Amino acid sequence: MTLTARPEWRALLAHYQTLKDVHLRRLFADDPGRGERLVATAPLPPGDDAGQESIYLDYSKHRVTDETLDLLLQLARACRLEARRDAMFAGERINRTEDRAVLHVALRAPRDAVIEVDGKNVVPEVHAVLERMAGFARSVRAGEWLGHSGRPLRNVVNIGIGGSDLGPMMAYEALKYYADRAMTFRFVSNVDGTDFAEQTRDLDPAETLFVVCSKTFTTLETMTNAHLAREWCLRGLGVSGGRGDSGAVARHFVAVSTNLEEVQRFGIDPDNTFGFWDWVGGRYSMDSAIGLSTMIAIGPEGFADLLAGFRALDEHFRTAPLERNLPVLMGLLSVWYGNFFEAETAAVLPYDQYLHRFPAYLQQLTMESNGKSVTLDGQQVDFQTGPIFWGEPGTNGQHSFYQLLHQGTRLVPCDLIAFYETLNPVGDPPGAQHDLLTANVLAQAEALAFGKTAGAVRAEGTPEWLVPHRTFEGNRPSSLVFLPRLSPATLGALVALYEHSVFTQGVIWDVDSFDQWGVELGKALAQRIVAELQGPAAAPASGAGPAHDSSTAALIRRYREHRRTG
Ligand code: F6P
Repeated sequence: MTLTARPEWRALLAHYQTLKDVHLRRLFADDPGRGERLVATAPLPPGDDAGQESIYLDYSKHRVTDETLDLLLQLARACRLEARRDAMFAGERINRTEDRAVLHVALRAPRDAVIEVDGKNVVPEVHAVLERMAGFARSVRAGEWLGHSGRPLRNVVNIGIGGSDLGPMMAYEALKYYADRAMTFRFVSNVDGTDFAEQTRDLDPAETLFVVCSKTFTTLETMTNAHLAREWCLRGLGVSGGRGDSGAVARHFVAVSTNLEEVQRFGIDPDNTFGFWDWVGGRYSMDSAIGLSTMIAIGPEGFADLLAGFRALDEHFRTAPLERNLPVLMGLLSVWYGNFFEAETAAVLPYDQYLHRFPAYLQQLTMESNGKSVTLDGQQVDFQTGPIFWGEPGTNGQHSFYQLLHQGTRLVPCDLIAFYETLNPVGDPPGAQHDLLTANVLAQAEALAFGKTAGAVRAEGTPEWLVPHRTFEGNRPSSLVFLPRLSPATLGALVALYEHSVFTQGVIWDVDSFDQWGVELGKALAQRIVAELQGPAAAPASGAGPAHDSSTAALIRRYREHRRTG
């Protein structure tokens, strides 16, 4: 049965008609306790004080009633969410179009867990790679891993793109507080040579380690930058040709990939290669060996804490009843707004400067996963799938696009992420500045939900002509996710929260959340066009396929002309 033909979907549609004009002011007036009732928590690993801590999700400021939630949960059950979740954890090949298991949860499974793919327990291999990573990270951090000139490596440059960049880069930024500050970490992703040039311009090749991350080890951007890095490094070291090359490459390059043959062809020693598996999607890989730069930055113990955070949320997702399951609730709320209120986008607004790349990370996680328009069995969908995800840290966004959130014509459900404690308690008394940040996040949630009526604006003596401009309609939904403090463990939990929310949405829409065919066409066309830009004639490269459209052909000619005339 198609999704929109399901009785549960139709019930939600009918319910939406009764709720769409109801204001959050009314919902709170009728049910004053909802702010304490419509909340859910998920346990975190014990904190520094060994106390049990949790993630707190306040979803009371959503345009939902108990009935809405009940209907959404009925839909989830009708879509067999629990069975499909269990199939993922059991290693079934749920990535149907690539015929692969989806087992990022195995990356953080405890050593004694058993998770089988084709009858083989993958957990021992996961831990074997983690141990090798730890050994390597320790020796780099301790200055024992020496470069070709005998100097310790103090700079780490991660070369990768998509999941092989966004996760490590976001995690480094998020966990900088815990990083070895005597070391420098950089991330090169773009095939635009400016990226490499700017990220390396002040680095000494003799002290630089390149971590080349690519699941496939064929990605154009990463391979181009890896070759550039090798030239830059060897030139800087004064090494060229012969056996010296491989010796220098062995000291300054390590690889992370599932494609060990290609890694060797590039010239990186198998001993300097950290593997992972085809059952880890690129955008689900920051806790695999792709996290090597993270581990070097925060140390193996910090990385273990990160994994523990992921694991805590995995367990919660796997075992908590759906009605108290954070990722399930978040996923279903996303369906509610996207499919019934027709919200086009969703904003994620972290109130922590260290999380400034978290929205960029989530863009790949959410949009590459659920930006699909056919179901698992290839049927065109007749409903919207994944929303456009975007965001910036609060409070910066408040002075920029929040105007639209509060008074624009579009409905944008928001995820507000906040922490009880700051890692930088400044102010008088220490931490007072964090109170300001927290006051802002709470104020925004309240303002979005309740707005300010024309009556209240008038009562302030505002001239009548100005009243409409100063009125806030409110009724703008948000989730508030509160965590104890930003740490490796809470970051892991936060990422897993979104991973499983994405999973939940994908199950409802019945799409393959783990493939990404939509990125292929542009890649193939670029390969063809580069041959035409660089080839001897302006004509399309021979055997390259149909002629370009007139605009692309004209632009290719213009570009070639510019390049020729300098
Ligand atoms: O082009 C999209 C994509 O395949 C992403 O899914 C992936 O994270 C990224 O490219 C990088 O791929 P790889 O790790 O194989 O270089």
